[in-house]
Amino acid sequence: MHAEYRQRRELLMSKIGRGTAIFRSAPTAVMHNDVEYAFRQDSNFFYLTGFNEPEAVAVLAPHHEEHRFVLFVQPKDWEKEVWSGYRVGVDAAKDRFGADEVYPIAELHEKLPKYLEKADRIYYHLGRDRSFDEIVLWHWQRLMAGYPKRGSGPVAIEDYTPILSALRLVKSPAELDLIRQAVTISVEAHQHALEFAQPGRYEYQVQAEIEHIFRLRGSLGPAYPSIVASGANACILHYIENQSQIQDGDLLLIDAGCSYGYYNADITRTFPVSGKFSPEQKILYDLVLEAQVQAIAQVQPGNPWNQIHDTAVRVLTEGLVALGLLAGNLEELIKEEKYKPFYMHKTGHWLGLDVHDAGIYKCGEEAWQTLYPGQVLTVEPGIYIAPHIQPAEGQPPIADCWRGIGIRIEDDVLVTPNGHEVLTNAVPK
Ligand code: GLY
Ligand code: MN
Ligand code: MN
Repeated sequence: MHAEYRQRRELLMSKIGRGTAIFRSAPTAVMHNDVEYAFRQDSNFFYLTGFNEPEAVAVLAPHHEEHRFVLFVQPKDWEKEVWSGYRVGVDAAKDRFGADEVYPIAELHEKLPKYLEKADRIYYHLGRDRSFDEIVLWHWQRLMAGYPKRGSGPVAIEDYTPILSALRLVKSPAELDLIRQAVTISVEAHQHALEFAQPGRYEYQVQAEIEHIFRLRGSLGPAYPSIVASGANACILHYIENQSQIQDGDLLLIDAGCSYGYYNADITRTFPVSGKFSPEQKILYDLVLEAQVQAIAQVQPGNPWNQIHDTAVRVLTEGLVALGLLAGNLEELIKEEKYKPFYMHKTGHWLGLDVHDAGIYKCGEEAWQTLYPGQVLTVEPGIYIAPHIQPAEGQPPIADCWRGIGIRIEDDVLVTPNGHEVLTNAVPK
């Protein structure tokens, strides 16, 4: 991986010309009082360095004669490490992470200017870490104060996000390998949950079984809070309480995936806990499945991103009309989004280091992102008929027999040169 991180930095540096890019590690987060959540590195920082400690700064200065990649890290300090864990330290970081120079983080103020003064702009993401923003702005202002005398310096701060997101959108073989490992573990967890979930058990018990497998198999744990939603709870998109007892006749919606080596899986399955669908559950399940099958078929190189969602919306809307849950002309129902009380989210997102991964969906006002090999995305249509929902304006009343049913089916799909590969197919649908 060492070489791959270098390759990523080189690619980014080739795109920032005479700029200097500054990356800040993720902030630590308080769980309660003086206890912190487990640290998770910022995905951009990790993508470029592989370094996963807090209180760090990475600088890429392609125009600098000696130090094109500089790290600022916490120094070795046994008195601190005995409380808060191992640190790589300044000396080891140079070799292990391939930096041209490594400094203790306390020297940031002193050393940063020499990597900025010859840059024509600073690439930095303002707004995520206000106290670090202050540091960057302070240095920028100082350099600009000297601009009239020098006639050079960083005249702008530009967000690196568009450049970096475009790089992160295409997954390398090494990244795909990590995604596949996350998928393999998550698939096993879903397969087990399918057996384990029974009427009388609690949602959190199913969650425990799933997350047990996540950790047992060496993943970092859940990629996002696991959703185990029985009955009408499935109509809450991000239901994470997981406290209810599963009832006979319930559908169970499980949206869970693990994070392996920082890369994520994101899988949803919905199934009848007693092994048999009610007629209404079956009708809606078949409709969501048909929407998913047709949407996945759109995952082909060259297709625009929105074709996946538009296909799912069309199948779902058509089905809802056939069931009398919507009424009217199909094109108008789609245009006026009359399906939205039943289907209020998009059909997928990029997947990678972030569950909702970096990468644009639209290029300007009109053009959609085009699909091409190496992208990984989810396809996750659903129908949610919450007990309390009202039909859209002018639409028929919703019969009670449909209420309380929530269904989502979500797979992770790789765009390949000839079409696609559904990575998560091994969980039954
Ligand atoms: N589990 C989050 C999502 O499906 O987007
Ligand atoms: Mn998803
Ligand atoms: Mn999901």
